[in-house]
Amino acid sequence: MSCGNQKRQWWKEAVVYQIYPRSFQDSNGDGIGDLRGIINRVDYLASLGVDVIWLNPIFGSPNADNGYDISDYRGIMDEFGTMADFDELLSALHERGMRVVLDLVVNHSSDEHPWFQASRSARDNPYRDYYHWWPAENGEPPKRWSFFDEEGSAWAYDAQTNAYYLHYFDRKQPDLKWENPQLRQEIYDMMHFWFQKGIDGFRLDVITFISKHDGYPEFPADTTALEMIQRYAQGPRLHEYLHEMNREVLSHYDCMTVAEGPGTTPENVLAIVDEDRQELNMSYHFEHQNIGVGFRGMVDDDYGDLVRFKEVMTRWDQALAHRGWNTVYFTNHDHPRMVSRWGDDSPQWRERSSKMLTLYLLSMRGTPYWYMGDELGMTNIRFERIEDYQDLMTINWYHLVEQEGGDTQAFLDSHKLTGRDNARTPMQWDSSDNAGFTSGTPWLKVNPNHKEINAAAQNNDPDSVLNFFRRMIQLRKQEPTLVYGHYDLLLPEHPRAYVFKRSLEDKHLLVLCNFSSDAIEVALPGALATVTDILMNNYDELTHRDGVFSLRPWQGAIVSLG
Ligand code: GLC
Ligand code: CA
Repeated sequence: MSCGNQKRQWWKEAVVYQIYPRSFQDSNGDGIGDLRGIINRVDYLASLGVDVIWLNPIFGSPNADNGYDISDYRGIMDEFGTMADFDELLSALHERGMRVVLDLVVNHSSDEHPWFQASRSARDNPYRDYYHWWPAENGEPPKRWSFFDEEGSAWAYDAQTNAYYLHYFDRKQPDLKWENPQLRQEIYDMMHFWFQKGIDGFRLDVITFISKHDGYPEFPADTTALEMIQRYAQGPRLHEYLHEMNREVLSHYDCMTVAEGPGTTPENVLAIVDEDRQELNMSYHFEHQNIGVGFRGMVDDDYGDLVRFKEVMTRWDQALAHRGWNTVYFTNHDHPRMVSRWGDDSPQWRERSSKMLTLYLLSMRGTPYWYMGDELGMTNIRFERIEDYQDLMTINWYHLVEQEGGDTQAFLDSHKLTGRDNARTPMQWDSSDNAGFTSGTPWLKVNPNHKEINAAAQNNDPDSVLNFFRRMIQLRKQEPTLVYGHYDLLLPEHPRAYVFKRSLEDKHLLVLCNFSSDAIEVALPGALATVTDILMNNYDELTHRDGVFSLRPWQGAIVSLG
C-alpha cells in the first residue's frame, strides 16, 4: 500500500526512542544503568507511545568507549546483566507493542576481543587478516586521522609483531578488515544470532567507514579532519558489502536498519537507502550538528544559525522526497541536549522551547529518532572541569589541546555546549538525591537540576513537557499527513521562524515555530492562512489576522488549512 508517493512501511510510521542503558536506570546500586533497570521502566516507555527502542551497545565490552568497543558480540556486558535479562526485556517490550533495535558496532571491535588478541600475536596467525596491519619495515604508514587517539594518529605501533594497526577511533578500537570474506561471514552469522532471538533491527555504527582504500594510499598532506571523514566514507567496496549484508541477513527478516552515516551527503545518501539497491532502510547525517561547530567541538558564531538549520533540514528532506526515506533527530548520546542546542534552557523558556522543539521534530517528514530525557526537557550539565568528564573523546582532545599549548579554557567553554557527556548524565526520574537513577554513586554526575526537571513531577501534570510529547506522538499517529505528507519550507530567510507546510492529497497542515525568545510576526500569503483548526499549540491561543501570525516566544503550533 502506498501513501502519497511513498510505500507504507512500519518503520516510516514509527517514532524511535533511544536508550543509553548506562544512564537510564540502575537496578543494583553499582551506579551503572542496566537491563534490569530498563525492565523496571517498561511501563514508562509504553506510556510514551513510542514504537521502537534503540539500545546503545549492550554487548561484552571493556568500556573504553562505553560499549562501542566490543569484546563479545554474542554476550551481554557484565555491568548490564545477563542474556536472561535481555530475553526478558525483549519480551516485555514486545508484549507492550514496542520493537527493539540493537547497535551493531562492526567497523571496529575492542582490542580485547579474542580475534584481535589472536591477530596481534603473530604475523602468520589465522586471525591476522581480521584487522588492518602495516608492517613497520615498510616505514611509517600513510597518515590517517583518528577521531579519539590521544596523539591524533589512526595507526598504533604494536611491538609484538613490529607492525601498526589501524584504528579510526581509540587505540582500544582496532578497525575490522571487511576485505576479508571470513570476517564478513562471522558478522553475518552474529547478526542472524540476534535476529533469531527476535530483535527487530540494527542501528549500524559508523557503517560508512567499513571499506578501506586498497593499500592505504597517501591522502593529500593538507587533508582536514572533515575531509578525512568524507574519504573514509567513500571506500571503494562499501556498497558491495552493504548489499551483501542485505542479501545474506537483512532480507530474511521484517526488520529496520539505520546507518550512522558520517560523510554522507544529500548527493550520495541514496546509494545507501534507495530501496531498489537493497542495502539499508535509513541513514542519519551530521550536517545540522556541525552548524557552528568546528574541529574538536569548538563553537563559532554560526552556532544556532536558524537559516542554515532550515536549509540543511530542507535539503535532506528533498534528497529523499521520492526515493529512500529520511530520518530526523535533534540529539543522541554523541551530541548536546536538544533544548540546550536549539532551544533556551533557562528556567524562563526551558519548558516552552522544549515543547516547541518537540512539536517541530514530530511534524517533520522522516522517521524521528528521540533521545531519552529530551521528553522531560533535560539540559546540558556544563561541566566546569575536565575531571568531571568521563568521555574519552573530550578527555583525549583536552590533552591534545594542552600538549599543543592551546587554550584549554576555551576548549572547556565550547564543550559545555558540545561535549558528549552533556547528553549522557543519568535520566532524571525524580527529585531524590540521585534522581531515582541509582542508590549508589552514579558513574557520571547527575544534573543538579533534577530537583525541578524530572519524570515524577511531570507525569501527572497535563501541562508538562512530558505530556506534550505524549500528545504530539498521538497526533503523529492519527495524522498520516505528518508522516507521509509533502514538506514545503516557507520563509526560508526568516531568521527566527521555521514555518512549513505538510500536504497529503487535499489535506494541508501548516507548522509554525518560533525559534527565539522574542515575540515575532510571520506574514504568510493570504491563500495559505485560512485556518480551520488548531491541532497542537504550546500556548493557549494563536493570534492571526489577514494572513499574519503573531507568535509568542518559542511558540509552536500546527494548524489545518481550509
Ligand atoms: C559512533 C558512536 C559513538 C562512538 C563511535 C565509535 O559515532 O555513536 O558514540 O564513540 O561511533 O564507535
Ligand atoms: Ca547497575
